[in-house]
Amino acid sequence: AGARRGSARGAGDMNNLEEGVEFLPAMNSKKMEKRGPKRRVVVTVVIVVFLLISLITGLLVWHFKYRNVAVQKVFNGHLRVLNWDFLDAYENSSSPEFVMLARKVKSTVRGFLNHADIGPYHKETVITAFSEGSIIAYYWSEFLVPKYRAESLDRAMADTQSLIQRWNPRLRNPMLKVESVVAFQSCMFSLHAKEGEITTFTTPGFPNSPYPNNALCYWTLRADANAVISLTFKTLELEPCTDDSDYIKVYNSLSPVEPHALVRLCGNYAPSYNLTFLSSQNVMLVTLITNKEGRFPGFKAEFFQLPKMKVCGGTLKGESGTFTTPYYPAHYPPVTDCVWNIEVPSKKNVKVRFNMFFVLEPGIPVSSCTKDYVQINGTRYCGERSQFVVASTTNKIEVRFHSDQSYTDTGFSAEYLSYDSSDPCPGKFACNTGRCIDRSMRCDGWLDCVDGSDERSCACTDQQFRCQNGWCKPKFWVCDNVNDCGDNSDELQCSCAADSFKCNNGKCIPEAQKCDGKDDCEDGSDEGSCSNVPCTEYTYKCHNGRCLSKQNPECDGEQDCEDNSDEHNCNCGIRSYIRKSRIVGGQNSDVGEWPWQVSLHVKGQGHICGASLISESWLVSAAHCFLQLQGIRYSEPSLWTAYLGLTDQGNRNGANVQTRKIKRIISHSYFNDYTYDYDIAVVELQTPVTFSSVVQPICLPDATHNFPVGKDLWVTGWGATMEGGSGASVLQKAEIRLINQTVCNELLTDQLTPRMMCVGILTGGVDACQGDSGGPLVSVEPSTRMFLAGIVSWGDGCAQRNKPGVYSRLTSLRDWIKKQTGL
Ligand SMILES: *[C@@H]1O[C@H](CO)[C@@H](O)[C@H](O)[C@H]1NC(C)=O
Ligand SMILES: *[C@@H]1O[C@H](CO)[C@@H](O)[C@H](O)[C@H]1NC(C)=O
Ligand SMILES: *[C@@H]1O[C@H](CO)[C@@H](O)[C@H](O)[C@H]1NC(C)=O
Ligand SMILES: *[C@@H]1O[C@H](CO)[C@@H](O)[C@H](O)[C@H]1NC(C)=O
Repeated sequence: AGARRGSARGAGDMNNLEEGVEFLPAMNSKKMEKRGPKRRVVVTVVIVVFLLISLITGLLVWHFKYRNVAVQKVFNGHLRVLNWDFLDAYENSSSPEFVMLARKVKSTVRGFLNHADIGPYHKETVITAFSEGSIIAYYWSEFLVPKYRAESLDRAMADTQSLIQRWNPRLRNPMLKVESVVAFQSCMFSLHAKEGEITTFTTPGFPNSPYPNNALCYWTLRADANAVISLTFKTLELEPCTDDSDYIKVYNSLSPVEPHALVRLCGNYAPSYNLTFLSSQNVMLVTLITNKEGRFPGFKAEFFQLPKMKVCGGTLKGESGTFTTPYYPAHYPPVTDCVWNIEVPSKKNVKVRFNMFFVLEPGIPVSSCTKDYVQINGTRYCGERSQFVVASTTNKIEVRFHSDQSYTDTGFSAEYLSYDSSDPCPGKFACNTGRCIDRSMRCDGWLDCVDGSDERSCACTDQQFRCQNGWCKPKFWVCDNVNDCGDNSDELQCSCAADSFKCNNGKCIPEAQKCDGKDDCEDGSDEGSCSNVPCTEYTYKCHNGRCLSKQNPECDGEQDCEDNSDEHNCNCGIRSYIRKSRIVGGQNSDVGEWPWQVSLHVKGQGHICGASLISESWLVSAAHCFLQLQGIRYSEPSLWTAYLGLTDQGNRNGANVQTRKIKRIISHSYFNDYTYDYDIAVVELQTPVTFSSVVQPICLPDATHNFPVGKDLWVTGWGATMEGGSGASVLQKAEIRLINQTVCNELLTDQLTPRMMCVGILTGGVDACQGDSGGPLVSVEPSTRMFLAGIVSWGDGCAQRNKPGVYSRLTSLRDWIKKQTGL
């Protein structure tokens, strides 16, 4: 085939030649003949020369413009030399010992850089330092490489380790035995703030091409002598944080030393997370360290200078007022001390309420507060805290704030209030801590005062269980395997004897019956975690038909099935913004916090039901959302619109929100609109959605998945119910816990079926209404994926403090979903 292609090309060239031969005679028109042969030669030569020149010029232009634009690249890194001992003289770069060893290392580096993709472009290598162990040599190498070869150079340099492995064996008796080499591409930028201007900088290639891999980039930021720097990351998207993922570090100094580090950033941050940092002086250093995989858009940042703060704190007088850490909600500057002297009218007392409090230093226990802290009357406060109050027994209080050299946080926002010492909480209940809470929260079984003072000396109601220690707790927390009383008295009546096994359904069996091949529990849980299990309806079945003993093996990141089928279709249940969200207001959700949440709207009626995204085209919701009501046939797909990526109902036109028409609604044929048994529907979108940072599917659990009683789950929604009622604008969330089915069934006078599960709310206000009919109930496991555990079904749809809510149990309806959607 090669030969044939060769001859074909030859023929082509001949053709061109023939055309050329014909071309010249064609120019020889009759006119030319008249002018004589001499003139003809001149004209021909001129034309040929002209053609040649244009050809060469074209080639040169092409060559210089597109092919030969040389770019300078600098890599720095280190390598380890094994067969050499360290001398003190190696610390002095002028010593003859240093110079000699440097020469040897240099020639070694040159040796292994002798690779077709590297060698020709290598300009210079400089050894900058040595350190012990055996000897580590630090170097940088400079390259001048044509643009079109730059990528292969990067690739080759990224794998210096294999260069050295290839090079080593070629030397029979190496002078230096080099073991490991690391090379970083270095990129350095130096920026100076301009008076009254904002300076922007980005990762190289931002946002459409990847930033360099194996790189170490520095941006030195400078400002005028008496100014400080305010730096903000406008966009920041690196690969998810792991031990060796790409990261940014910001320093309050020009040298990258840990004691001056302000923050380490990786992954990406929800838009509500404040990424503004302040320096304590006129310099800052931003570094980016990248590994060899994963190249994301990178970051875009801006900075400007502002005058140095003269004093921090001051005297605050009056009935009430507010104060914050400097530059709040930006990260407060390091090396700062503030003192606020607060004084209210002399007949009153004063208290300070911290509404937002983020004074967290990585690795510092909140019990010691040795680095950054707030101090009031000798007590230090630090870490991340929810709202708290510090009260004084006089009309004065002094609040101090201290930040040390390293790591800063968002700080606090506080208010001071004067109060009457005889009636500190008019119309409300006063916790012993000084906090005022709603009267209805007294003796309701919930600790609303951090010290529990609202639940002391209470008489239990008939909805409550009396603990041995005297607390009153909602009855639905009895027998859920969680010690709510504190003395475990709510769990005693349902625990098993010492030598017996407690089944998932609560039954006790003798320990000896575990793993005996018989389903003694009647829910399979005694046979669930044994080796070599036969397949039952309680064991997870791999695609190849083998069964596993492991509980909940699907999508847990470990290969359990030989065919790995337990880890298939696991692109689900992950939030894009993995960083902690820090939003104002207890139950409001952050953007992207629940990316599978869907809002279903009906034309002219707005938000009616919630749903969960389970794939690009399918949603899961509740069947009762699509019942005919007041003459409207809600089962008609054209009535509905689905909003995805939505957090605030008032922002439905937001850039990240996706809107879809509905193609099909399939309600469970066994759905009973009297008992609400089988309350599930699947909804197909007319066109698939695009997954994004705010639109992601939730994982569907296997039918054998176990959500144990007492497990923490989250329910989300705008608080709308089918019956109407005003919902919230911002997506609400509530932490809830699975209630013992037997206990709940008693409380709900026998209305539960096996397709239902019962939950009680753990967080949220008294009248909070967080769920939506059809909305998701999900399990939150910090390190792994989230699974859909239930669908908001009945019991008001709203999660309320003293009322259990009833949800459709996903696992018992899992096979139906598979049948309808194939998922
Ligand atoms: C470093 O070595 C040079 C040359 O031997 C010597 O002149 C100089 O004093 C040394 N410096 C230190 C700090 O030891
Ligand atoms: C962060 O703090 C700065 C300074 O106070 C403020 O201007 C900015 O709006 C804040 N950004 C966010 C996302 O809260
Ligand atoms: C400061 O704390 C002490 C006890 O630690 C208390 O007796 C005193 O009243 C407090 N002072 C003020 C002004 O609250
Ligand atoms: C549920 O409560 C009953 C008592 O009402 C108890 O016997 C059973 O063990 C409990 N179930 C679980 C799973 O704890």
